[in-house]
Amino acid sequence: MGHGVESFGDNSVAASRRLSTLARHLEASSMAESENVGLRRSLTSGFDGDSVFAHVVKAPEDPILGVTIAYNKDPSPVKLNLGVGAYRTEEGKPLVLNVVRRAEQLLINDRQAKLSVLVSRVKEYLPIVGLAEFNKLSAKLMFGEDSPAIRKNRVTTVQCLSGTGSLRVGGEFLARHYHQKTIYIPQPTWGNHPKVFTLAGLSVKTYRYYDPATRGLNFKGLLEDLDSAPSGAIVLLHACAHNPTGVDPTPEQWEKIRQLMRSRKLMPFFDSAYQGFASGSLDVDAQAVRMFVADGGECLVAQSYAKNMGLYGERVGALSIVCNAADVASRVESQLKLVIRPMYSNPPIHGASIVATILRDKNMFNEWTVELKAMADRIITMRQKLFDALRARGTPGDWSHIIKQIGMFTFTGLNKEQVAFMTKEYHIYMTSDGRISMAGLSSKTVPHLADAIHAAVTRLS
Ligand SMILES: Cc1ncc(COP(=O)(O)O)c(C=O)c1O
Repeated sequence: MGHGVESFGDNSVAASRRLSTLARHLEASSMAESENVGLRRSLTSGFDGDSVFAHVVKAPEDPILGVTIAYNKDPSPVKLNLGVGAYRTEEGKPLVLNVVRRAEQLLINDRQAKLSVLVSRVKEYLPIVGLAEFNKLSAKLMFGEDSPAIRKNRVTTVQCLSGTGSLRVGGEFLARHYHQKTIYIPQPTWGNHPKVFTLAGLSVKTYRYYDPATRGLNFKGLLEDLDSAPSGAIVLLHACAHNPTGVDPTPEQWEKIRQLMRSRKLMPFFDSAYQGFASGSLDVDAQAVRMFVADGGECLVAQSYAKNMGLYGERVGALSIVCNAADVASRVESQLKLVIRPMYSNPPIHGASIVATILRDKNMFNEWTVELKAMADRIITMRQKLFDALRARGTPGDWSHIIKQIGMFTFTGLNKEQVAFMTKEYHIYMTSDGRISMAGLSSKTVPHLADAIHAAVTRLS
């Protein structure tokens, strides 16, 4: 090492080491480059400018994510995005919960991260089924603190990539190991359901769910369709806050659905993307699932922390399969690993560590429930404000479904033409089925939306 380098101290030594490493890499890659040129030239005509992918046609945008793309292109200062399924504050800003920030701080400061308690400060691989403590706590959150199914080890829970990944892993497990390959999904449902289950290897059919005439549940149609489904068929049920309709069965209706499904040996697959977000209570929103688990029967549950903890981009969720015996659950888990390993190997560590940090600590858990309730309450307030604003304008029609529906979305009943009109004239963006995200509204924007709905309904009825 020369005199000049030494006189600049440790930093310079490190910098010069980095430089020589970089030089070594560059040498190696330029050698490889020159060796490859001849090979590439001789391979395909693609080298001359014609792409071997030239025939690939442009795919349409995802109908939900496409709304945001169109919104982003609109320069209007009054534009409003009600398509996005993510919570926004009164100021229209994305929200990171305080308790999540606190958990992240704890994880960063944790200098004694033990190997036995894997936290995200240790950037190691998780096991195929994810963070063990996260799985245990997620099952408790879903099935209840003193769930007999958990106590008897009848439940296997694996960490997956948010709700979507949990649905996909569950779907593929069923396609491989369950005797019935048909899944019935509600009509309508979240747009990704049919694609996820088809690609998982299941055949997708629908059951009647929503009645446009009442803007409520078509309970009779639902029961008839489930009654005529083949014995053993899988049935996708939204655990709460049905997306896109915001229409949930009452507890009494759930009980009838349970009885029918058990008597016809239909397999429940719950999609729980909004626990706590619908009513503001984690327990109330888990009631339908717990009703099915309490009868001792089997079912699947896909859980997401995207909405209720605001962890959208962390992709943190869980799939639970409730079996009728502990040894079955353990064999099922061994097969879930075979589904997951070639799909994405193992799940990400950071989001699951945040969730586990919050769920394991009583104070943090309570803080979370307060913040969660505040989000749910703000949405409920927006429902009331929009309803009042339409009433004040004398907008034709019965808008009581706005306050009756539950969760993030209102299925307004506006048709395609009315939606297009509102986008063109009022710069309000939503999916073409008339679904609006109540979470994207604020006291300030309600009058603008009410004006737009009023104009759309009176001009294009
Ligand atoms: C009904 C339903 N299921 C599942 C999901 C999946 O969400 P994520 O994969 O972000 O957890 C969503 C998201 O909007 C949803 O509305």
